[in-house]
Amino acid sequence: METISIINAKDYVDQKVRIGVWLTNKRSSGKIAFLQLRDGTAYFQGVVVKNNVSEDVFKLAKEVKQEASMYVTGTIHEDKRSPFGYEIEIEDIELVGQSEDYPITPKEHGTDFLMDHRHLWLRSKRQFAIMQIRNEMIRATYEFFNKEGFIKLDAPILTGSAPEGTTELFHTEYFDKDAYLSQSGQLYAEAGAMAYGKVFTFGPTFRAEKSKTRRHLIEFWMIEPEMAFMHQEQSLEIQERYIAYLVQKVLENCDYELDILGRDKEVLKRYTELPYPRISYDDAIKLLQESGKFPDVKWGEDFGSPEETYLAEHFSKPVFVLNYPKAIKPFYMKPHPTREDLVVCADLLAPEGYGEIIGGSERATDSEYLAEQITKAGLNKDDYEWYLDLRRYGSVPHSGFGLGLERAVTWITGEDHIREAIPFPRLLNRIYP
Ligand code: 4AD
Ligand code: MG
Repeated sequence: METISIINAKDYVDQKVRIGVWLTNKRSSGKIAFLQLRDGTAYFQGVVVKNNVSEDVFKLAKEVKQEASMYVTGTIHEDKRSPFGYEIEIEDIELVGQSEDYPITPKEHGTDFLMDHRHLWLRSKRQFAIMQIRNEMIRATYEFFNKEGFIKLDAPILTGSAPEGTTELFHTEYFDKDAYLSQSGQLYAEAGAMAYGKVFTFGPTFRAEKSKTRRHLIEFWMIEPEMAFMHQEQSLEIQERYIAYLVQKVLENCDYELDILGRDKEVLKRYTELPYPRISYDDAIKLLQESGKFPDVKWGEDFGSPEETYLAEHFSKPVFVLNYPKAIKPFYMKPHPTREDLVVCADLLAPEGYGEIIGGSERATDSEYLAEQITKAGLNKDDYEWYLDLRRYGSVPHSGFGLGLERAVTWITGEDHIREAIPFPRLLNRIYP
């Protein structure tokens, strides 16, 4: 007899198997007990019929508590009524770990309570589905970029640089020096692109943002591809193919999870159709002004979430907004060839109100221009000498972008809040558990 995972039940119909499981819920009458089981790969039902098992086993089935762990032995049957499609008719139960008064009961709980119990909440079905989809997106990311000839380059977490501005830095001590937690791996990815052509970083990044929104985390994971000998137009093509690939792979490999979440797959399919629309920042401002919904919108300002939502809804697919004002973007972006007030960049806005999921640009290639921008941004030029070296020794046109993993997971899973897209969210006022 084999010990299997629930997800493989379909391969063992009418066979006797053993599975290590936890109990999520149960229902029983005098003659039959229905145990809702999970093992981390899927959720299904175990049926214990009094007349077919020993007295001890039936007693255990009736008494076992929520989240107790056990080995169940029995025969797999098809179960057309359940979403999973299979169940196990249990013959034997071997209790492994007791569980008393599990705090998360099938009733409704408030968000704070659930966040305090995040280490247990992760066992719930929706959270399971989201984490599986997150995992698929990470897997598909490595697959996509490896197929495209990128190598993964690991950027440091402890750094002395502040690519995305000094207001959101997490300061720490580095022996007798100052250091910051990485805001972005980009500057290191640029060094990597000059060394290996096409690279991507993937790691945690930190923003000490005092904003409490549905879209912001203090610690989030970012995928940052960087490509040498590449202009912005080609980078946009990679970006849209990458996003369509992520959506496609989730559709292919996470059908069960999308069903658990009740995510509309027809809507997701639309996002696999390329190209995505492109609109200039200038035209985006006009569109917002003409809509009559945003009387206060002025050229030169960054978009808030209502503006981003409106723009993406207007196109019903992710939309690239190109060439923002230089004044509201970081120092490293390439200046626009004919418009002094713009930089060559794009944000990708997701539909359905999820806002910016990618920020990217072509990079400035001239070391003197860059040195000037660094000083203007209030940064210490000495800390960026290594970065300026990239322009001193064989500078080439190059472009890159950053996808916020949790923003993308929130959007693809259709969740309301970004805290659901990461196992242990770091939020304003929350670092527990
Ligand atoms: O637009 P951002 O700040 O761009 C960069 O960091 C560039 N260095 C990327 C690059 O060109 N290599 O961040 C990129 C993405 C955003 O589009 C968003 O998806 C995500 O990172 N992001 C956040 N996600 C969650 N919480 C936050 N506080 C985030 N800030 C940015
Ligand atoms: Mg941005």
